[in-house]
Amino acid sequence: MPERPYTILSCSISLDGYLGGPTGERLVLSNDADLCRVDHVRAECDAILVGAGTVRDDNPRLLVRDPVLRERREAMGLAASPTKVTMTRHAQLDADSNFFATGDSEKIVYCATESLLTARRRLAHVATVVDGGPDVEVQRVSADLHDRGVRRLMVEGGGRVHTQFLTSAAADELHLVVAPFFVGSSQARRFVEDGAFPWNPGHRARLAETRQIGDVVLLRYALSHRFQESA
Ligand SMILES: NC(=O)c1ccc[n+]([C@@H]2O[C@H](COP(=O)([O-])OP(=O)(O)OC[C@H]3O[C@@H](n4cnc5c(N)ncnc54)[C@H](OP(=O)(O)O)[C@@H]3O)[C@@H](O)[C@H]2O)c1
Repeated sequence: MPERPYTILSCSISLDGYLGGPTGERLVLSNDADLCRVDHVRAECDAILVGAGTVRDDNPRLLVRDPVLRERREAMGLAASPTKVTMTRHAQLDADSNFFATGDSEKIVYCATESLLTARRRLAHVATVVDGGPDVEVQRVSADLHDRGVRRLMVEGGGRVHTQFLTSAAADELHLVVAPFFVGSSQARRFVEDGAFPWNPGHRARLAETRQIGDVVLLRYALSHRFQESA
């Protein structure tokens, strides 16, 4: 088995298990104190990965926000924010989006072979475009990131990407934040899609921590034998 980074999946959901609202509009499921916690988790990672759907829908910057945390990273000889990573099959990504246009850290795009030329034409001036194979597999992405020196990876969604990391058993912990409201529409995106998950009624995940953060709750699950107790 190739080596892979220690991998933390992180997302916030509604009480009915949705990642966002029924329209493509970004829905705030977190609160300020939790965003501050997420900032600390980010600052301790070498790379942050999101799916191309999240890059398009949310236009996230994926930077460490707190200047003290940025300075601490720089004092250690690191970029102010972790490397940004995405996966795409169709390469319909905008080089001017915040993912590519903000921050000085490296950006890596794992692209399916069929769209590699398109991806290189659109993005090679703002990112390292890597041939991810016929269908980009998360184990291959994880192993390649490890080869590039990434030892701690944070995966921040969306649902399709989380599903693949979970079903491939390529994650070590899950940070699930539950917001105190319902979305109430099956048009919205669920936290995960259908899949054969290693954690099921016959094999329950270990709940390592619960933490109330204002009006949301963090559920921290241990997903592998490598799980590190201290968050
Ligand atoms: N609440 C939260 O914490 C949170 C966090 C993040 C996102 N979100 C929400 O989640 C929604 C997006 O989730 P999503 O599930 O639609 O999208 P996603 O997981 O962010 O991205 C899916 C896209 O990633 C690419 N991709 C995924 N697996 C791939 C593979 N194996 N090979 C090649 N490409 C692959 C494909 O891109 P192409 O289509 O380009 O080929 C696919 O359409 C957004 O609405 C966002 O607001 C919520």
